[in-house]
Parts: sequence; structure tokens; C-alpha cells
Amino acid sequence: MNMRTKEFTLPETETEAVTGAEWWRSAVIYQIYPRSFADANGDGIGDLPGITARLPYLARLGIDAIWLSPFYRSPQADAGYDVADYRVVDPLFGTLDDFERMRHQAHALGMKVIVDLVPNHTSDEHAWFQAALKSPPGSAARARYLFRDGKGPHGDLPPNNWQSVFGGNAWSRAPGDSQWYLHLFDRKQPDLNWDHPEVRAEFEDVLRFWLDRGVDGFRVDVAHGLIKAPGLPDWGGHAAMVEGAADHGNNTSPMWDQEGVHEIYRHWRRLLDTYPGERMMVAEAWIAPQARLARYIRGDEMQQAFNFDYLLAHWDAAEIRAVVDSSLAASAAVGAPTTWVMSNHDSVRHTSRYGLRKPGARPKGIDAAGEQPDEALGLRRARAAALLTLALPGSAYIYQGEELGLPEHTTLDARYRQDPAFFRTQGAEIGRDGCRVPLPWKADAPSFGFGPGEKSWLPQPDSFARYAVDRQDGVSGSTLELYRQLLRLRRDYALGTGLLEWQSAGSPDVLVFDNGTLRGVINLGMQPVALPRGTLLVASEPLETHGELPGNTAAWLTLS
Ligand code: GLC
Ligand code: CA
Repeated sequence: MNMRTKEFTLPETETEAVTGAEWWRSAVIYQIYPRSFADANGDGIGDLPGITARLPYLARLGIDAIWLSPFYRSPQADAGYDVADYRVVDPLFGTLDDFERMRHQAHALGMKVIVDLVPNHTSDEHAWFQAALKSPPGSAARARYLFRDGKGPHGDLPPNNWQSVFGGNAWSRAPGDSQWYLHLFDRKQPDLNWDHPEVRAEFEDVLRFWLDRGVDGFRVDVAHGLIKAPGLPDWGGHAAMVEGAADHGNNTSPMWDQEGVHEIYRHWRRLLDTYPGERMMVAEAWIAPQARLARYIRGDEMQQAFNFDYLLAHWDAAEIRAVVDSSLAASAAVGAPTTWVMSNHDSVRHTSRYGLRKPGARPKGIDAAGEQPDEALGLRRARAAALLTLALPGSAYIYQGEELGLPEHTTLDARYRQDPAFFRTQGAEIGRDGCRVPLPWKADAPSFGFGPGEKSWLPQPDSFARYAVDRQDGVSGSTLELYRQLLRLRRDYALGTGLLEWQSAGSPDVLVFDNGTLRGVINLGMQPVALPRGTLLVASEPLETHGELPGNTAAWLTLS
């Protein structure tokens, strides 16, 4: 059946896309995980000067914007998602001047800059929380967080049964105290009380602080979590992250997706709209179904939300097609663009997920004792998947290293692990360190060129040498050159602002679609199939037999 999806057309013309009207509708946004991107000063941790030095690489890749995970002052209990001061750059990453240089240079190269905003919780080392600990129960200082008396005759039982996303109890006792405080994540990440006007005022001010410094947008961390159900009622479920959002009923829980969050985003939207240029917000919200997620991107709220359903899809043509259709339909219903994302700093890299026996399975980390992915097959599928993802109308996210075909570090020794989820589950959850390993830039240099010396905050596997940028740069057929070519064609064919039209594929393992004059085909099966009509533009693998598309391969053709 050919499904004409004209109703998903986005309102702009090609010209507007080029001149940048509502740039976020079709933007390719590259996620930088600062501590693992490039280290300029050799302490083994990536930093802002390291990013600045590599901006020409990103401009050449052909992306439209960068999104930086947090670089604010933080004790780094959750790799910077525990913010102690929202207006200060952590000395690990540099200074505010370094940020300004980086931002300026990115803009000079034509790239927008999105920063991370972490409003659900602060660090326990934030001045507010420190003041709260020093103040008695019932004090004004405590009212900015969620302090409660414990249950039981001595108050030594937690106020309710909520579990932390990272495992264990979501409540910790304030040291030497009768009260408990809520932390949906680590105990060093106390949840803020978003019913408090000071909390709201403070974050508006933080938004202004970064808007005044020229940022083009915010990625809003845990956007579905700010408001909790009144009375903090017990709940039978387990608060899960990306991998479990749909399965754990995040949308019926008392901590996620409460109606009250939307008012906050409407307010922020009005604030952003008072600034010149098109400042945007993208929601990180692990909720299902798509229609609930779309409520975050209604016309007066955020511009985008991460499409985790797409990230979670297995390597299965019918499943992927269904996710693409439901995503396009849900965002079109509210006039927002759809986003496409395969990897981020919280999930196993898709090159590795696609190489598992159940391709696209969602382990929470992989270690040496777990099933080791078929690296070559995973890479082959990831390259094919890039031809689907980057051809879809909407905005696409690339996680640093994805353009190199970088795999997960799947044998990282436990002694190096830093993810709080690993510790809070006593290792039952391997955690996210494996997708956060510093990037390889030079195959033959110490730390593979991540920094000037040997140091790297997580050890890199030897296999990273063959993925290094200098091994791929200018090498025809490399994953890096493939991404460069795809991003160029995506622009030439205005795929981000186009519309998708499925064509009949002739095999249940194959998807064929048109976007304007470009025809895409992806073969998710193992057997070769006939290549559809059209002139070949690019294929994810060399096509050895004329007219044939091998298994786990995709191609772009042109109809004109
Ligand atoms: C988001 C971040 C994740 C972090 C969590 C708590 O999900 O992406 O890395 O651990 O929020 O801030
Ligand atoms: Ca450094």
C-alpha cells in the first residue's frame, strides 16, 4: 500500500529552509558530550577549548547546530547533570570566556549552539541545597526542595515507596535530621519543588543568562519530571529511563508527565520569543505514547522533543515503518517537526545494538560478561540506518562519534565505571559509561588524539584506532565520508523540509520511500533484493552486483 503522507508536509518552502526560517524544523543537530569530545589541556577530560579547536571539523561534516551536555559547575556525581551553579562554567571544562569564544566561533562557522538545562534537580552542593540542610524542617530554605517527614514511629522510613531511576530508594535522609528529601536520580541530585515561585523565577533568570550569551536553544533535561502529583502518592511502578518509558507506564505515574509541566514550558516559550533570532527548546521526555509526547511540542510550548521511540526500534522493517508513521502523525497533529535520533549519552551506541543477536535490543550497558555484538554487522546496519534517518523529514540528531561508526566500549572494566546507576544497582545495571568513551581523532597518537597526552577519563578500547578521524578523513567509503556525503545531499535535496511517501517494496524486509525527487531504499534483511528504479546517488556499501542491493544495505537514488 502506498501511503501518501501529504498531511505531514511542513509549512516552509525550500527557500525558507536555506535562509533559516524556523531552522530547527529541519536542522541536523550534533550532540557533544563535552568531557569526551576533545581535551585541550591534557587532563584527560574534554573541555570547551577542545571543542572550539574542532569546530571546523563539525562545520565540514555539514551539521546545522551543536548541543552540549552540561559544562556547568558540578561535583560531577552524574557527569555534570548535577549542577551546583547554573551560571558558572566548571573549571574542568574552562571558563565563561572559553564558552564565549566557542559560541562565537560556532556562529562564525554557521552553526547554532544549544545548551543543556537541568531543571528537575540541582546538585546537593548547590547553594540552595546547602542552605536547606543547614535550616530546620519547615524553613523557607527547605521549601525549594521536596523535604518530607519519614514514616513510622521514629520517622525512619521513607515518605513514600518511590524508587530512583538509578536504582534504590528515591529518598535520602538529610544528615543528622528527622527529614528526608526526594531525588528521582542520585542522592546527590535533590529534586526541586517546582510549585515554589522562587524556583520558577530562578530558572527564568538562568534562561536569560544563557540567552543573553547568545545561545540558540536549550535541551531540557527530564522535561516530564518537574511537577509531581499532589501528596506524592505511592506508586507500584519503577521510574525508568529511555529504555523503559513505554513498558513502565511512565505516563501514568505520579512523578512523570503531570499536567502542570506544560504551563512552565509555555512560560519559557514566551520568554524565548522575546529574544531576536529563533531560540528553541527540545524536550527530553521519556513518555509514551507519541500523542502524550506531542503535547510538549504544541505551538506555544517547545519546538522539538526527542523521538525515543525511533531510538528504541528494533532492526525490523515493519516496526521501523510503524514508528516513522506514528511519529510523523503525532508531531504533524500539533504542527511540530519530528525528530530522529539513534544514539545519545544514555543508551548503548546503535552500531553495537544493531550487532546483537536481537538487533536493536536495549541492554542497559554491555560488559565483557554480556553478549558481545557482531561489530562488523552492527556497523553495516548503522551505516544503512543513517540513510534512512537522514532522509526523513524533520530534524536529525547525531551523537558524537556516530559519524565515525564508533561502537560502544563493551568490555570496560568495572573499576573504571563512573555511572551512578552502576553503583546504585550494585552493578546489576552496567550503566552508560560504554557510550561515553573519549573520541579517537588520531590512530597513532596517545589517547588516540583525544588529548595531547595519554590521559583519558575512561580507557579507550584498542579497536578505536581503526575508527579514528584521521583513518577516515578523505578515505572514500569510510563512515565519516559517508556522513559528509549524506549531509550534503540532505541539504541539496531539502530532505529535512520534504515529505515522506512510502512506495511498495516487494519484500517485508525492505522499505522504499520517496522524499521529493530522492528515492530511498533500505534492505533490513540478509538476502540481496532488486534495486528500485532511479539513478544511484549513494549506497551504504559498495554495490557489487548491478541492479542488486545486498542485505543490511541502503541506497539513495534520484528520480529526476
Ligand atoms: C537525563 C540525562 C542523563 C541524566 C539524567 C539526570 O536523562 O540525559 O544523562 O543522568 O537526566 O539528570
Ligand atoms: Ca581538559
